[in-house]
Amino acid sequence: MASRLFGHDLVSTRDLCSEDIISILDTAATMEAMVKSKGITQELSDKLIACLFLEPSTRTRLSFEAAALRLGAKTISVAEASGSSVAKGETLSDTIRVMQGYADCIVMRQPQKGGAAEAAATADIPVINAGDGAGEHPTQALLDLYTIRNEKESLVNLTIAMTGDLKNGRTVHSLTWALAPFAPSFIFCAPAALQMPDEICTALDHAKIMYKKTASLEEAVKADVIYMTRIQRERFLNPEEYDALKGCFVLTRSVIEAHNPGVLVMHPLPRIDEIAPDVDTLPGAAYFRQAHNGMYVRMAILSLLLKK
Ligand code: NCD
Repeated sequence: MASRLFGHDLVSTRDLCSEDIISILDTAATMEAMVKSKGITQELSDKLIACLFLEPSTRTRLSFEAAALRLGAKTISVAEASGSSVAKGETLSDTIRVMQGYADCIVMRQPQKGGAAEAAATADIPVINAGDGAGEHPTQALLDLYTIRNEKESLVNLTIAMTGDLKNGRTVHSLTWALAPFAPSFIFCAPAALQMPDEICTALDHAKIMYKKTASLEEAVKADVIYMTRIQRERFLNPEEYDALKGCFVLTRSVIEAHNPGVLVMHPLPRIDEIAPDVDTLPGAAYFRQAHNGMYVRMAILSLLLKK
């Protein structure tokens, strides 16, 4: 039987209920077991996935392509804006209209917040948002949840601290929406200029979900999970503003050992300098495991959206 998600777009984690999320995570666990035993299946061997990446990406694009190939699907890709007709001035909706004639699903990353929703409204095949500017990054949030569930054994009743550029970081926006059904408490740790957008805080107020804003890394590290992010340099119009904020939080082994040695440390990567290398060997440093989980979760998403 086709899943509830069959034929749908994945634009925002705000659109997913807890049942959808659990079904994606459980399917990802099945995919992980399959990859570790057989390596590859042919369940999407009749499908072609278009990956349209108009902003830089390493992990997201390669893990989507690897996920498609491990499901037996074929892929076609644009890996930079300068290699596509967008560079000639083509509108996003024209690009999408053309691509939907070639593929069964479009995975896209582009710099405009709301661009994925616009593409999804245009396309009559599923569109998966792989990052829309400073908007959302729902597949990252799902692999984050998969990692948290694996490492903490449950998603429920956790305190999650998010640190860094909460204003421009799309991963933390999607992660907040994705955790909302699981009775979380949040600590938003950022300089005032980079705090979580009001739209998200207001929605948390309405849902009576606890959150606290702070600029203290020592306070954030006391959570069950500390989710570090880099300052999103590419979103700053004024380089001096970026220079003034870069390096504002650096999580070190000594901060962790002094305040909460058992904390789970996550990061969507790439890291710049916000996690010191001496953290990497702590048992709670989960960021490379987290990146590996991306392929299994993206296999689950492709399968649930595309398999009849
Ligand atoms: C993130 C992104 O692109 O938003 N990277 C990723 O997909 N793993 C985080 C970032 O670039 O800071």
